[in-house]
Amino acid sequence: MSKMRTTVILRKASLKRNKNGNSSSQSKKLCQEQIKEELPRILTGKEAAYHSFKDLTEIHSFRANLLSWYDKSKRELPWRSMAVTESDLNKRAYAVWVSEIMLQQTQVATVINYYNKWMQRWPTLQDLAKATVEQVNEMWSGLGYYSRGRRLHEGAQKVIAEFKGEMPKSAEELQKLLPGVGRYTASAIASIAFGQVTGIVDGNAVRVLCRVRAIGADSTSPTVFEALWMLANILVEPFRPGDFNQAIMELGATVCTPKAPLCSECPVQAHCRAYQQVTKEQESVSKMLLSNTLSKISSTPDIEECEHCSLCLPDKESWISSLGVMNFPRKAAKKPPRTERTLICVVTRKRNASDAEEYFLVQRPHVGLLAGMWEFPSILLEVEMTEKEQKCAVLDRLTELLGSSVAEKNLQYLGEVVHIFSHIHQTYLVYSNSLGSAPIDTVKLGETKCPPFRWVTKSEFQQSAVSTAMKKVLRLSSHSSMVEKLLDKDDKRVRGSEKNRKEQKGRKHKAPAEHGGRQLSMDSFFRPTVKEPL
Ligand code: ADE
Repeated sequence: MSKMRTTVILRKASLKRNKNGNSSSQSKKLCQEQIKEELPRILTGKEAAYHSFKDLTEIHSFRANLLSWYDKSKRELPWRSMAVTESDLNKRAYAVWVSEIMLQQTQVATVINYYNKWMQRWPTLQDLAKATVEQVNEMWSGLGYYSRGRRLHEGAQKVIAEFKGEMPKSAEELQKLLPGVGRYTASAIASIAFGQVTGIVDGNAVRVLCRVRAIGADSTSPTVFEALWMLANILVEPFRPGDFNQAIMELGATVCTPKAPLCSECPVQAHCRAYQQVTKEQESVSKMLLSNTLSKISSTPDIEECEHCSLCLPDKESWISSLGVMNFPRKAAKKPPRTERTLICVVTRKRNASDAEEYFLVQRPHVGLLAGMWEFPSILLEVEMTEKEQKCAVLDRLTELLGSSVAEKNLQYLGEVVHIFSHIHQTYLVYSNSLGSAPIDTVKLGETKCPPFRWVTKSEFQQSAVSTAMKKVLRLSSHSSMVEKLLDKDDKRVRGSEKNRKEQKGRKHKAPAEHGGRQLSMDSFFRPTVKEPL
């Protein structure tokens, strides 16, 4: 299918949207008729047919199988109940909006807690509009991609200030008018909250649709992406568009998974061309084995239905037998994340000896990476530095921020924390500096060159607008001081005991102060196991 033809097909196939968001049976009938009318035009040519649907019977069967599976197997999720039980359209749309923004690049299991807390604190658009950015960042802390929360907040303020609290009611308007709402989110809100008959294409839908219609060309290319939107718009069930869209996503999340998909449990297995290709290959292998012509086996299934086209796998050789249905979807190789190294220092103090320890945080600029979030003082390393040079750089920065209270002898290297952001492989070289309970020279604090700062206790830190990376840095620091205390105790016990003198001499690890703390490094301790968002 040429790019131009795909575009033409798409334009013709895109379903007219219901401008006022009504889900009246009249508009549904209209959509059904439009599909009927469009289908012959969509399905011209063998290749288009192979990557689309043959007729309405097939489409009806696909929808019915998927929806009855969804009705039986769907997970009970807080935003799903709200989308059904909430009768106020604005509240319903807000509830769906929040969930869809949180679910971008984040797993359902992680989102549930954040969603419940958010909705408890800001149950309506009006409540969210009154919140501060700081409160929003605090609530979003640990969820990653922090601009999502800020845009949601901005959007709520816009709906209140400019639209008198009335949410835009169609996918087109939602996308056009609300910050952070793209084509997917707009269609998800419009279909789930307002019953607009429009398909959706998110990561899960890409996988399901590419497998169902054996689309093996790069799924991030504009041609494939548009073809997927076209498919989604053809398939969407006109009487239950929101449920249908959620069912596609649910299938992708629980059955048609990226790895180890559960094809035997799939409600649309009969419609899946990827599955058909795998079965065909297995059959041909069995046949050849039986007829003892093993030498002639080709590991590529024979795909008669489609000549090579812009939606197929790039070539027959790119089929990998061992992948089975996981041959779909295909993505162009991603650019590897850039690597960065950052010096970071956990500065602590105690107001009085008996008080809880406090941590020094500075605020990041209000634009750019992790905008407005709080962090331990840090320096991005532009060049390689020896440990001595690193210490000098940290001390200079701390002196800039805290004046003469910072003592070099208290500066300790603790180890590395690695945090993988979406596009940065970040290594934090973590230092600590304890100011004790001596009075702090605050001369420089408040000078214009200093960013906003604050001292927080450990529990205040956990409630602050800090990233997951900073929480890992704090964990390393807490772990180190715990180990240090244990070693200290151990040292005292050993020193006090005459009979253990010899043993002490032969001990491998030595007290941190004597050896710059190096032995306490936990370089590999905090390596991430999963990629984390910004
Ligand atoms: N991912 C994004 N939105 C979703 C939804 N409503 N249901 C399941 N998975 C989703």
